[in-house]
Amino acid sequence: MKIKHVSYLGSYACDQPFPEGVGSEFAVVGRSNVGKSSLINTMVGRHNIARTSNTPGKTRTANFYPVNDRFCFVDLPGYGYAQVSKSERARWARLIESYLAERAALIGVIHLLDVRHAPSAGDQQTSAELRHSGKRVCVVFNKIDKIKRGQVNSRISTHLHALDLDERTAVVPFSAETGEGKGAVWAWIQAMLSL
Ligand code: GTP
Ligand code: MG
Repeated sequence: MKIKHVSYLGSYACDQPFPEGVGSEFAVVGRSNVGKSSLINTMVGRHNIARTSNTPGKTRTANFYPVNDRFCFVDLPGYGYAQVSKSERARWARLIESYLAERAALIGVIHLLDVRHAPSAGDQQTSAELRHSGKRVCVVFNKIDKIKRGQVNSRISTHLHALDLDERTAVVPFSAETGEGKGAVWAWIQAMLSL
C-alpha cells in the first residue's frame, strides 16, 4: 500500500470515551515489549510515530494513527508486564478488553508474538479470546532477525500448536527491525479492507 499520509489522532486511557476515529481500524495486541509500537512504525515507514522503548510498559493508552484518511492503526498496552502495579495492569486489561469488545470500526487484529519464545499463558489466553470473538486475526511472529533464518519456520510451526486459531487466521514471520514480512501484513490489511 502506498502511504500518503500518517497522523496521530490521540491517546485514550481506560474509561475515557474512544474517539470518533477515521475509517476501519486494525489493532495491535501482544505481550509487553514484543514490538507492537515498532510494528506500526515499520508498517507506515515512520521512525517513531508510535513511541517505543527497550523497557516494557511503554504504551499505556490506546493510541490511534490514521493512515491515508482511510483506516487507523491502534496501538495498545501490552499484557504480562509484572513491574507495574496491579491496579494499573487491571486498567490496561480493561482498556484492551473494552476496545476489542466494543469498537465497531475494528475489522482486524494483529496478534504479535515473539518468535524466540513459546507462547506465554497471556498469549494463549489472548489467542483463545480472539478466536471466540470471531474477529479476523493476523498472527505475526516478530523479531525473526534475532534467530537463525533456518529456524524460523520450525519455530513458528511449533508455536502454532500452542495457539487457538481458526482456519481464516493469517500467519506472518516478521521483523520490525528489517521490515521483513511487511508486504505480507499489508496484503492481509488490503484483503480485510476489501471484505
Ligand atoms: P509496550 O508498549 O511496552 O507494550 O512494548 P511494545 O510491544 O510496543 O514494544 P516496542 O515496539 O516498544 O519494542 C520493544 C523493544 O523491542 C524495542 O527496543 C524495539 O527496538 C525492539 N524490537 C521491536 N521489534 C523488533 C524486531 O523485529 N527486531 C529486533 N531486533 N528488535 C525489535
Ligand atoms: Mg508499545
